[in-house]
Amino acid sequence: MLLEILQVLLVLIIVITVLLLLKYGNRYFGTENRHRFFAEYFKDFPKFHNEKTGFYKKELFKPLHEIESSFPDLRKGNAIRILEIGAGPGANMEFFPKHTKLVVADPNPFFKQHIEATMRKFPEAELENYVVTGAEDMKDIPSHSIDAVVSTLVLCSAEDLQNIYKEIRRVLVPGGKFFFMEHVIDPQMSSIKILQILFGTLGICQFLFDGCRPDKDIKKELEKGGFASVDVKRFRLDLKEGVPLAFSGVYLIQPHIYGTATTAT
Ligand SMILES: C[S@@+](CC[C@H](N)C(=O)[O-])C[C@H]1O[C@@H](n2cnc3c(N)ncnc32)[C@H](O)[C@@H]1O
Repeated sequence: MLLEILQVLLVLIIVITVLLLLKYGNRYFGTENRHRFFAEYFKDFPKFHNEKTGFYKKELFKPLHEIESSFPDLRKGNAIRILEIGAGPGANMEFFPKHTKLVVADPNPFFKQHIEATMRKFPEAELENYVVTGAEDMKDIPSHSIDAVVSTLVLCSAEDLQNIYKEIRRVLVPGGKFFFMEHVIDPQMSSIKILQILFGTLGICQFLFDGCRPDKDIKKELEKGGFASVDVKRFRLDLKEGVPLAFSGVYLIQPHIYGTATTAT
């Protein structure tokens, strides 16, 4: 009971702080500062998230270890080229094949130093290119140049999902796969769903977490995304063991989906 009251109080404090920030904050807190703040705040989150999702990520990314690159020079080195959109600090490197050639498309330039630090722990992998851009427009990445595309916890922040799917289909080799794990709107009516809609509608999460909207139906959008097939599974984060205070927002993003979308051959 006490814990629940504390949680409600915490949410109220966050709401009031954010409403004040929404009203007065933008004057002092433009996009560059928001990106800088978010990259710093978020750099330690993947360790926590991977503890909760590692079981599913291992299953999701297993096929990456079986893919043969479409490019002879990469095949020779037993490598594949992965494009990770919104890679942040490199949350998924531990699940990728060790000879991965990584291309990143992320609009936040402040994550680059963090992903470079992560890459140093995986010396056989290579960060081939870090493109500062939203995945809606990846013109610097050539068509059909990518063996597999990955995104985790990204599509919540993107405004134009259909353009992102179009770009993913363009850069992938024919028959290539898009691997995703995203938090989504709760499919069932629940207190979480109500809070997701409230926070999403008020723009609170978007302001605090660099554009993240907790009430998106990403599954529905994916199914309209022009892929030859889409395979989606659901799970919820298990938070029984507690959550560090700094990551309390994670209570809002418990419902997850993960799976693959495959382009036509
Ligand atoms: C919540 S973080 C997730 C980082 C990492 N993928 C993970 O699972 O921990 C969201 C990431 O998506 C990036 N992002 C936001 N909008 C994006 C967009 N339109 N296209 C590509 N990346 C985007 C952010 O800069 C950030 O790196």
